Amino acid sequence: MACIIDGKRISAEIRAKLKVEVANLKAERGIVPSLAVIIVGENPASRVYVNNKKRACDEIGIVSHEFALPCDVSQAELLSLIDELDHRGDVNGILVQMPLPAHIDEKAVIERISPIKDVDAFHEINVGKLMTGNFKFLPCTPAGIVRLLDESNIDIAGKHCVIIGRSNIVGKPLAMLMLHCDATVTICHSKTLHLDEICRTADILVAAVGRAKFVTADMIAPGAVVIDVGINRGGDGKICGDVDFDNAKEVASYITPVPGGVGPMTICMLMNNAVTAALLQNDDLKR
Ligand code: GUN
Repeated sequence: MACIIDGKRISAEIRAKLKVEVANLKAERGIVPSLAVIIVGENPASRVYVNNKKRACDEIGIVSHEFALPCDVSQAELLSLIDELDHRGDVNGILVQMPLPAHIDEKAVIERISPIKDVDAFHEINVGKLMTGNFKFLPCTPAGIVRLLDESNIDIAGKHCVIIGRSNIVGKPLAMLMLHCDATVTICHSKTLHLDEICRTADILVAAVGRAKFVTADMIAPGAVVIDVGINRGGDGKICGDVDFDNAKEVASYITPVPGGVGPMTICMLMNNAVTAALLQNDDLKR
């Protein structure tokens, strides 16, 4: 049976270290990192994510500012709030919770945030920096996945990493990050032919599909590492991942559970980016 990668435990350890770093920054240099989170409308999942981000900020000592806008807010009003936060010296990071209502152009919103405050690393400047390796901010979920592997002493270099999903938030940036870690990377998607066969060639298989239990045990090579990025509601109403966990764990060597795997790491990496933003804005480029 696979070793279960405990994202809850690993993320708690990272948050504890960040808490010490933030306390030291405050005591030694008077720097208090701060994060502004904008939520538009009342998407229940977004509300849970935003609450979790606030809780993590409180735990670590990062100041958080929440801006809850009505679902019919105009794009101009949203952009104007971003401009205001961008100019505020007491705001280091700006995050606009996605998805946004259909009348708002997500790309315009992302590009309006200064790259130096873009703690999601969604801005094209930060995407480009990830491509060249000259990055300060890493997108949170990919960074969390690589950190989970590292903390579990799973070497990425030379391995065949197969990623199912080509989103701008997970699949594409994760591929680039794993490439920087010297992996051989294959990205699969909804049009990929012979998906099962390709998955069976993976040393590390990452499922970021958004479909409950999409990855079945027969798609996993014996001894492979399986990382599940999905958060779905299964037929029984319970939260489940993109991987059929109960059967996959009998084949894999390591596997992340849902919940309690990648999810908590994403928030942790956001907190890490908020601290990086505060340092960058205080002319500290070493981190
Ligand atoms: N919605 C789902 N995941 C994310 C994320 O990582 N960042 C933002 N801003 N919105 C999201």
